[in-house]
Amino acid sequence: MNEFGHNYRVLFDAATISERVAEMGRRIPEDYQGRTVTALVVLKGSFVFASDLLRAIDLPLKVEFIGLRSYGSRTSTSGVVEITLDAKYPLNGADVLIIEDIVDTGLTLSYLLENLSTRRPATVRLASLLHKPSRTIKQVPIDYLGFTVPDQFVVGYGLDIDGRFRNLPFIATMDDPEQLKLF
Ligand code: IMP
Ligand code: MG
Repeated sequence: MNEFGHNYRVLFDAATISERVAEMGRRIPEDYQGRTVTALVVLKGSFVFASDLLRAIDLPLKVEFIGLRSYGSRTSTSGVVEITLDAKYPLNGADVLIIEDIVDTGLTLSYLLENLSTRRPATVRLASLLHKPSRTIKQVPIDYLGFTVPDQFVVGYGLDIDGRFRNLPFIATMDDPEQLKLF
């Protein structure tokens, strides 16, 4: 039971996440041959994941942030995406590594990939902590994946519902999230 009187079930505890993220960080340099990576952190959901992942990547690296908001219900996107904060660096010629919290329908990422292609980066790869394949509407290639999750709403380790629960150190599924009363 959490502080809102709601049930959550831990899917991945802090130690499991930490081990997996470290593995992802070790894998990434194999594909870059020492080139400088421009990490593009998708806010807000991936800020916790990114802070751990980036410290596990042994490469020259710059960090940019992009804020995306996708409209829809509390727990699902309509595919209408707005850029709320844009990268400060133009990204042309850069080896861009997108860092995302979760690929659910894929609509947000496919919007971002299309938008990025107009900026002429040298390469674009995607690291996503989570993937919910059962909900795919648009396929997006995930180069580095943390965990696959079932068709349930998850919170914690940066992921939220209505802005809450980002600070949980684990990832949990939330029962009946559309009914959750937050104050
Ligand atoms: P999309 O459906 O792939 O476009 O995902 C849109 C955004 O919704 C993601 O970037 C997340 O921020 C958010 N999202 C999707 N599924 C979940 C979830 O289970 N928990 C928390 N946020 C989610
Ligand atoms: Mg979100």
